[in-house]
Amino acid sequence: MEEPTKILVVDDDPVNLMLLETILQQLGYQVAKAVTGTEALEKAQTEKPSIILLDIMLPDISGFEVCKILKSKKELSTTPIVMVTALGDRESKLKGLEVGADEYLVKPIDRVELLLRVKNLLKVKAYNDYLEGIKDLLEREVNKRTQELQEAYKKLDNAYLEIIQRLGRAAEYRDDETGEHIQRMSRYCQILAREIGLSLEEQKEILYASPMHDVGKIGIPDSILLKQGPLTNEEFEIMKRHTIIGAEILSGSQHPVLKMAETMALTHHERWDGKGYPHGLQGEEIPMEGRICGLADFFDACTSHRIYRPAMDNREVLEVIKRESGRHFDPLIVEAFFDIFPEIQEIQKTFQDSRAKSTLKILESLKKGDE
Ligand SMILES: [Fe+2]
Repeated sequence: MEEPTKILVVDDDPVNLMLLETILQQLGYQVAKAVTGTEALEKAQTEKPSIILLDIMLPDISGFEVCKILKSKKELSTTPIVMVTALGDRESKLKGLEVGADEYLVKPIDRVELLLRVKNLLKVKAYNDYLEGIKDLLEREVNKRTQELQEAYKKLDNAYLEIIQRLGRAAEYRDDETGEHIQRMSRYCQILAREIGLSLEEQKEILYASPMHDVGKIGIPDSILLKQGPLTNEEFEIMKRHTIIGAEILSGSQHPVLKMAETMALTHHERWDGKGYPHGLQGEEIPMEGRICGLADFFDACTSHRIYRPAMDNREVLEVIKRESGRHFDPLIVEAFFDIFPEIQEIQKTFQDSRAKSTLKILESLKKGDE
């Protein structure tokens, strides 16, 4: 059987309270009662009435205040409130409506009018509850879809970043078959960016963009790129073009990582003293990402094996970098590089060359053989 509709009646006068209770019960409603504002607030929560009949003059909090509080609570905002009072003046009526009352009845109560008002308000409440239900449903649906969209976007972004990483690797493949150079130098770039105070977002962009700094090597012939021994002036001029070719390959994108990659490709061989290429930019004319990439690339190239020369040891390369501070390199980045050198070594160890790894393995096995 359906539960009878419950009405909360709030009145500090026991006679009025009993009168309203009798009328409402005769009409088939269930009645909850409160004699103070505080009790009214409590019972509105616990009894969950369909309508509240509220007296204005209560011993503790006024009916106006109670009405305002009830209407401010999300779960009670659709419960209709009928102000039932002896105050029949225009000002009180307006105030009642202003604080959110849905109806205003002046005592003595007309039984028929009360019945009609209650019935109307119950219809309004049922409609409002229905709308609230739809709103909640829509909100839940929108949240679910938003979450799905965010997850899909994240996956897409990851796939995108992976593709650009692999593009960088493809470019390096001819002279760095294992791809470890870009693994190391992109991490060097990121921690250098962190050390000089760039934001997390910028560090992430630098990490993802730096593997593409030499993508322009795609356009350099094998005879020059893989030449064992020094390049002639003419060959070196062709080699320099990998900066411009790289920037052209990466140009025109709206994605911040690709925009940064374009700048890195173009400027990673510029020098602080203006003697670099392709444009001979000087000092702070060289974008920060280009300066960072230049140093990280130089260190890793020198400490890696090449077809035409063995790897230099760290100490030797550090000497060169120190000497080149303010000439080849930005002094600020050189300082940061020395400050984080233990971390640089960690990365170097984690992503060491396959050649270095196999040499180490041979050394280890020889050592074991000696024991
Ligand atoms: Fe390069």
